[in-house]
Order: sequence, then structure tokens, then C-alpha cells
Amino acid sequence: MTHFLDIHTTPTADLRHIIDDARRMKDARHGLPKGTPDADQPLANHMVALIFEKPSTRTRVSFDVGVRQMGGQTMVLSGADMQLGHGETIADTARVLSRYVDMIMIRTFEEATLHEMAEHATVPVINGLTNRTHPCQIMADIMTFEEHRGPIKGRKVVWSGDGNNVFASFAHAAKQFDFDLVFSGPPPLDPEAALDGLYTIERNPEKAVQGADLVVTDTWVSMHDPASARERRHNQLRGYQVTDALMDHANADALFMHCLPAHRDDEVTSSVMDGPHSVIFDEAENRLHAQKAIMRYCLTA
Ligand code: CP
Ligand code: NVA
Repeated sequence: MTHFLDIHTTPTADLRHIIDDARRMKDARHGLPKGTPDADQPLANHMVALIFEKPSTRTRVSFDVGVRQMGGQTMVLSGADMQLGHGETIADTARVLSRYVDMIMIRTFEEATLHEMAEHATVPVINGLTNRTHPCQIMADIMTFEEHRGPIKGRKVVWSGDGNNVFASFAHAAKQFDFDLVFSGPPPLDPEAALDGLYTIERNPEKAVQGADLVVTDTWVSMHDPASARERRHNQLRGYQVTDALMDHANADALFMHCLPAHRDDEVTSSVMDGPHSVIFDEAENRLHAQKAIMRYCLTA
């Protein structure tokens, strides 16, 4: 049984296999209505639980649609409505769910919750975002880059903004997929120390994006950050907004990515989001295809 918990803990060859499989599965359904079943139905007769302890649009809908296309059935569970939110342990929840469903996707707060779920579940567990990581997102992002620009190996990726959970999964991916990652943000919002060595720092965003093949940002206030931090973070991050002027310092064919949801004209201007560098909606679409390949990997690896 194989979980998909993180990019750095998944073998490199398996990550490559997932991206290639996602591409193949996407091509196979080109132009079909979204509800058309996939030809091979790898999740036929399978039940998949999708647990959300935080809000979601993309993760929720893309997993739900993906499971259905693959022939399975889903149940979407809110953490707050489960006994999980009322004192039942993660371990017991994992053991119980494993008797009902064939796979579990969980979006949660603490990384420890994900790992406890995986340790005690007897079915595959998939990480749908924690306070520290968002591996499914970055698998979709790698797929998106390669669709537009070919292999990401040896390319320069620049992150401008908060050193958050999405950045962390980019850092893990930089090592696995062998690209250069530059972090550009203010010191109080540096990535966690465990990621040291996976990226370099350039505090000046204009210098950072020179030679960039991909510029990425994310919200300045994540779901796990206290709302009270909003004003301070906006002051700290204002200089790291991705603008047309900043993109002019990157390579002429640089891509722009954002996992969404975006706060238009905070971390990125609307003109960049809707401009020629942006592939944000391809990224969103590729969540579906990448996660279908991840689920197939979990069932068959
Ligand atoms: N990018 C992403 O995970 O979006 P949701 O929070 O809408 O799932
Ligand atoms: N960093 C964001 C990503 C949302 C998909 C958050 O954790 O809220």
C-alpha cells in the first residue's frame, strides 16, 4: 500500500511516472465532457473519502471529479462535522475509515495529523494540504510547466512572497526534479529551516527574477495564519508583489503561476494574472489530471 504524503518522501522515479501518467490521462480525454468516464475505470467499485478541515474549491472539486471519472465514488467530509473535531483520535478515525473506504484524501492543519492518519490507516492516504506542505499542487505545477516549456530540469524558478506551505513543496520538488529555486521575500517570512539547502535567497525581487523561467507567488495570508497578521504581512510583503514591471525583469518567455485562490492586486496584479505569462488556469485544471495519476499510483505502486 502506497501513500502520497510529500514530494521529498516519494521516490524520484515515481514522481516522474506520475507526471507522465497525468499527461497521458489528460491527452486521452481531450475535448470530452467532464463527466465522461475514463476508458479504464481504475477506481471502479472504490470508495474515496475526501476530508476537509479547511476550506477548498480546487482540491475539493478536482478530487471529486477525478474519482468519478475513474469510476469510483466519493464522500466529502468536513472535519468539523466528524467526531475528529470532537475528541476522537486521528488513529481511531483512520482505523474506522479504513473499514469503509478504499482511499483517504485529507486537508488538515498539522503535518502530524496527516502522518498519524497514514500510520494507522490500512488504505492509501493523500495529502491535500497541511500548514507545511501542498504536494498535489506542485505536481500539477510541474506538469503545467512542462506542458508549456518542456523539461523543468535545470530551469530557474523564482518565488516572490511568503515562505509558506506551497513554497515548501516547491523546495522539495527542486531537489527531486533538479531545478534551481530562488526565494525572494522578507526575512521574517523566510521558509522553515528544514528546507535549508534546497533553494537560494535573493532579497531584491528584481534581481531574483533575472533569468527566471517561472515566477510564482501565493497569498500573503494562508488559511493557518492568524487574521490578525494580515496588516503586518501586507506591510512586510508589499515590495514582493508580482507586477508587469517585475515580470519584465524575468526571461521574455517566463511563465507566471499561482496556486489560487489569489487576492488580486495584493500578491499579484490582475494584469499579470490575466496577462501573457500567466498559466494559472492551466495549473488549476492540471490539479485534476495530476491527482488522478496520484490516485492511480497509490492503488498500483
Ligand atoms: N490551490 C488550492 O489548493 O486551492 P483550494 O484551496 O481551492 O483547494
Ligand atoms: N498557502 C495557502 C494555499 C492555499 C491553497 C494556504 O495554505 O492557505
